[in-house]
Amino acid sequence: MSNDPLLQPYQLKHLTLRNRIIVTAHEPAYPEDGMPKERYRAYTVERAKGGVAMTMTAGSAAVSKDSPPVFNNLLAYKDEIVPWIREMTDAVHEEGAAIMIQLTHLGRRTRWDKGEWLPVVAPSHHREASHRAFPKKIEDWDIERIIKDFADAAERMKAGGMDGVELEAYGHLIDQFNSPLTNDLDGPYGGSLDNRMRFCFDVLKAIRTRVGDDFILGVRYTADECLPGGTGREEGLEISKRLKESGLIDYLNVIRGHIDTDAGLTDVIPIQGMANSPHLDFAGEIRAATKFPTFHAAKIPDVATARHAIASGKVDMVGMTRAHMTDPHIVRKIIEKREDDIRPCVGANYCLDRIYQGGAAYCIHNAATGRELTMPHTIAKADRRKKVVIVGAGPAGLEAARVAGERGHDVVVFEAANDPGGQIRLTAQSERRREMISIIDWRMSQCEKLGVTFHFNTWAETETVQAENPDVVIIATGGMPHTEILSKGNELVVSAWDIISGDVKPGSNVLIFDDAGDHSGLQAAEFLANAGAKVEIMTPDRSFAPEVMAMNLVPYMRSLQKLDVTFTVTYRLESVEKNGNQLVAHVGSDYGGVNKQRTFDQVVINHGTIPLDELYFELKPASSNLGEISHDQLIDGRPQTVWRNADGKFQLFRIGDAVSARNTHAAIYDALRLLKDI
Ligand SMILES: Cc1cc2nc3c(=O)[nH]c(=O)nc-3n(C[C@H](O)[C@H](O)[C@H](O)COP(=O)(O)O)c2cc1C
Ligand code: SF4
Repeated sequence: MSNDPLLQPYQLKHLTLRNRIIVTAHEPAYPEDGMPKERYRAYTVERAKGGVAMTMTAGSAAVSKDSPPVFNNLLAYKDEIVPWIREMTDAVHEEGAAIMIQLTHLGRRTRWDKGEWLPVVAPSHHREASHRAFPKKIEDWDIERIIKDFADAAERMKAGGMDGVELEAYGHLIDQFNSPLTNDLDGPYGGSLDNRMRFCFDVLKAIRTRVGDDFILGVRYTADECLPGGTGREEGLEISKRLKESGLIDYLNVIRGHIDTDAGLTDVIPIQGMANSPHLDFAGEIRAATKFPTFHAAKIPDVATARHAIASGKVDMVGMTRAHMTDPHIVRKIIEKREDDIRPCVGANYCLDRIYQGGAAYCIHNAATGRELTMPHTIAKADRRKKVVIVGAGPAGLEAARVAGERGHDVVVFEAANDPGGQIRLTAQSERRREMISIIDWRMSQCEKLGVTFHFNTWAETETVQAENPDVVIIATGGMPHTEILSKGNELVVSAWDIISGDVKPGSNVLIFDDAGDHSGLQAAEFLANAGAKVEIMTPDRSFAPEVMAMNLVPYMRSLQKLDVTFTVTYRLESVEKNGNQLVAHVGSDYGGVNKQRTFDQVVINHGTIPLDELYFELKPASSNLGEISHDQLIDGRPQTVWRNADGKFQLFRIGDAVSARNTHAAIYDALRLLKDI
C-alpha cells in the first residue's frame, strides 16, 4: 500500500472514499432537457475511471421551478430525473468512485425570463449584480414550499443511487438568508444569526427526515464573504460550528469570498496569474476550529499542492476540479508514478466562462473533455505506421504531433521560430498569463517521450516537406496580424502583436482600435499603459472585448482601470493620416452620421489574423486530396478518404489559424479530431 497521503482512504461516516482527491460540484452545462443523459454520464464516468475518490455531480441542480438555470443545470425538481441519475450512479460506482450531487435554490442568482418565467425570490429586494434580477421579497409560503422542494429533490437523488447530497450555500438562496447583506426579513428568518440560519437548518432537517442517516449530507458555504457588512470571519466560524453541532451534516465544504459580481466569483475560483491555493489556510483554520471533516477546492491545480493540503492536515478531502477537466486521469497517473504526464490545468477559465457564453464547458487545451462520446482521452495506436510531417509548432501543430505520436506514427515537425508555442508564446509575455506556456511545455514533453523529431529555425518549403516522403502533411502555420482594414493610412498603424512582442516601442498617446475583441487588444493596452502611455480602446461593438469573457476580464479590469485606460464603444476607426509627428484618426460609426477627428501619436489595430497559407497552397496540387477535408468523416470520427489526384503522394490538411483566425481551443480541437483517425 502506498504511503502517499493523497492515496490514503478516508472514512466519511459509512462511506469509504478510496483516496483524498475529489471533484467538487461544477455544472459543465451538459444536461439535455435538464437531465444527465449520455454525454453527462460519459463525462462523469471518465473521471471515475481516472481514479478520483468522489465526484460531486452537477453544480447547483435546481430544486424548484423558481430557481431556473441561468445556463444549463440539472432539474432536480423533476421526477423523470431519477432513472437518469440511476444510470450515472451505477456507472460511477462500477468504477469504484463515490458520487454525490449538489442541490440548490438560486434565490436571486438567476433571471425571471428563464424557465417558467416565475418571479425570482430572495430574502430582500437587493439585486445581484451578475444576474441582474430584482427579486421579490420571499414570503412564508415560498419558504415552506422551497424547504419541501429541497427534501423532495434529496429523496429523488437517494432513489437514484447517489451517496449523498450537498447544499450550495454561498451566493445562493441559503446564503442569501445567512448573510446580513442580503437578508432584510424580520423574524423568524431575519435579524439575528439564529434567525438567518433558520432556513438552512429547516432545509437540512427536512432533508435528513426524508433520507435518513445512511446518506451523506454536506454544506458548501462561505465562512467569510470578504465584504463589508457581510458574513465576516468570526461569524463564518460561528456558522461552521453551528453546522457541525446541528448533527445534521457529515462534512463542511469551505468557501471563502462572495460570488455576486464577476470579480468576487474570480476570487473564489481564481484564474491564471492569481495565487495558487489562496484559501487553503483558511479552510485549515475552519477544520482546526471545528475538528470536523472538511473539504475544500480553489486553485489547487497540481499534485504537490494537493498533497500538501492533505499531509498538513488542512483538509480531509482536496478538490481538484478544473484539474480534472484538463486531465481526468490524475489519480491513475499518481498511482502509476507518472505525475509528469498529467496534463496541467493552466487556469484559463475558458471552461467556466464558456458555460455562460457558449453553453457548455470546454477545457482550453483538452478538447476531449465534454466530448467523451466522440473524442478520446487516451489515443489508440494506428494499424499502420505513417510518416506525418507537421509544419508549425503552435498549439495546433503540437497537438497534431502529440496525437500522431500517440498513434505510433513517425512524426517530424518544422518550425520557423527558435521555440515552439506560436501565439501562446506571445500570450505568455504577460506575466499574468505565463501559465499558458504549460500548454506548450506539456506537449513538448509528451512529444519528446513519443520520439517526435523537431526542426526549429527552419522555414519549411515545398521541397523540405516532400524530401521527407510523407504520407500525411499537416499545415499548422498559424496566422499573422491583419491590420490592413482602413480606407487610408494602413501603413501608419501597428498591430497589437507588435506591442506585446516588444517589436514596436510604445507611444505616449495611443488609440487601440479593437474589433477582434479578444485578449490581444487588452494585453496590448496593458503593455502600453504600464509603459506610461495614455490609452484609449475603441470598438464598433456594443461592448468592449466581447471575446474575453466574464472571469477573464476581471484581472484586465483590475489592472487597466488603475492605469486609467478608457473604453469607447460603438465607434469605428475609418482612416488614419499623418500630421507632423502626430496621427489624425478619422472616426465614424456603424450607426451613421458621425465624422470625428482625434489626434494620437500611435494607432494600434487588433483585427485577428490572416492565415499564413502559402505553403499549403503550394503543396495542394501535389497532394492526393488537394487539401480537401471531408467534414462528414471528420464529424463522424472516420478516417479521411478524399481522393482527388491519382498522382498525389500524400494527404494534405490545414488546421488552426492557418485556416482562419479562431482560438487556442479550436486549434487543438482541429488537431485532435483529425489526427486521432490518421
Ligand atoms: C464549469 C464549472 C462550473 C462550476 N459550477 C459550480 C457550481 O454549480 N457549484 C459550486 O459549488 N461550484 C461550482 N464550480 C466551482 C468548483 O466546484 C470549484 O470550487 C472551483 O472550480 C475551484 O476549484 P478548482 O480550482 O479545483 O477548479 C464550478 C466550476 C467550474 C469549472
Ligand atoms: S479551461 Fe483552463 S481553467 Fe478550465 S480546466 Fe482547462 S486549463 Fe483548467
